[in-house]
Amino acid sequence: MEDPDSTRCDLIVFGAMGDLAQRKLFPALYQLYRAGLLHRASRVLALARRDLDTGSARQEMLGKLECHVRPNDFDKDDAGRFLEKVDYRQLDINDVDAFVELDHWRGDDRGNLIVYMATPPSLYGTISRHLRSAQCCNQNTRVVVEKPIGHDLESSRVINDELAAVYRENQLFRIDHYLGKETVQNLIALRFANNLFASQWDQNHISHVEITVAESVGIESRWGYFDQAGQIRDMIQNHLLQLLCLIAMDPPADLSADSIRDEKVKILKALRQMTPELMNTHVVRGQYTAGNSEGRPVPGYREEKGADPGSQTETFVALKVEIENWRWSGVPFYIRTGKRLPEKLSRIIIHFKPAPHYIFDPDQQHLANNKLIIRLQPDEGMALQILTKEHGLDKGMRLRQGPLELTFSETFGHDRIPDAYERLLWEVMKGNQYLFVRRDEVEYAWRWVDRVIANWQASGEPPKRYTAGTWGPVASIAMITRDGRSWYEDA
Ligand code: BG6
Repeated sequence: MEDPDSTRCDLIVFGAMGDLAQRKLFPALYQLYRAGLLHRASRVLALARRDLDTGSARQEMLGKLECHVRPNDFDKDDAGRFLEKVDYRQLDINDVDAFVELDHWRGDDRGNLIVYMATPPSLYGTISRHLRSAQCCNQNTRVVVEKPIGHDLESSRVINDELAAVYRENQLFRIDHYLGKETVQNLIALRFANNLFASQWDQNHISHVEITVAESVGIESRWGYFDQAGQIRDMIQNHLLQLLCLIAMDPPADLSADSIRDEKVKILKALRQMTPELMNTHVVRGQYTAGNSEGRPVPGYREEKGADPGSQTETFVALKVEIENWRWSGVPFYIRTGKRLPEKLSRIIIHFKPAPHYIFDPDQQHLANNKLIIRLQPDEGMALQILTKEHGLDKGMRLRQGPLELTFSETFGHDRIPDAYERLLWEVMKGNQYLFVRRDEVEYAWRWVDRVIANWQASGEPPKRYTAGTWGPVASIAMITRDGRSWYEDA
């Protein structure tokens, strides 16, 4: 039986008053508290540069919780009780002596120590060294770090080396919040619990795969960060490559963290490298110009607040990715992601090959592929498009395409779908690493993405323009049309 005290923790949060911690981390902790999953003896120490006492920090956090927790889930009394577990200390990260205080805060009666670095990655090394000097961490400490781990392979190695100098890999929990989404975890259940799909999941049966992660928001207040990163570093290097790995990987031997991560790494290693020759046919980068989003006029990327009007940073990327192994040879994965697209949605579509011999009306042959549509967000669920006969005496053998539909909220009730951060924090408390990214995954992903970026830089080509509120540059449509296919919404 699981030890009821095994999830008890002392959670120390660096960068606790910053946007990420206030928008994601504290709301998730509050939800865990409400669900009875935050151990009654667990405590949180919030650290930041600002000179605040615990009382005023709690007051400020209460306001932020009210803002960031969905109104139906917010209860002021519960939030107040949760915040009684939170202490605040002002801390200058460069002051090594101040770290000794952290150990005092923990006192003698201790839970597992979890250190959460909600700071820029450039500070991970300093924080880790100072924690070690102050003897504030040991081999059981769990350390949670956020993306981006570097902006290329080389800088990610520097950060990973700094972390490795203090912690072992099994202490490190690198967050990719897409892995915490319920529907993303469902990909593992879908693929490996249903032999129906498992036996069809290869180049013999699948013609191609589409992965779209679209956002309707623009860049707004994050312009400074985003302009250094661009959509390829912000979304492709992590979220989209993780989704691609979960769709493409071989069955792991079991559900342990390393079994799953070993299989993902094999896919990252098998990605066909983008050569300069492939850039015209396999890669599209775009940048949005002024247009309309959700019914209101919005500025272009270069006209956002604080923008550099000459910026060449991409806000959209579409790629034709090929995986060089037996399972996927000849099956392109068309992946795309962008800001200021018509709607917010993440969706994967598996296009199955048609039957080997077609016997129905020739003018309906284009219907003859089954598709599995996996809706990651919103309206979480999946639909298998199958063909049936049209009803009616006069219809002969006319075909009709219709979905076998599974909408999670309808089928399994209207339970709240937990936010990714709730799941991820809960797994850290339990010490499970399977939803976190291992060092070699980060580095293989960078190795592949770096090649694409290097080719862009060498070509000097500016990103293609697309109007805010559309599905990206027409070149992205051309990329898939060249192969005689179309994006799902155009089909
Ligand atoms: C983050 C990116 O990792 O993911 C953001 O930095 C992006 O630019 C966000 O908006 C999207 O996450 P979600 O969960 O809203 O799809």
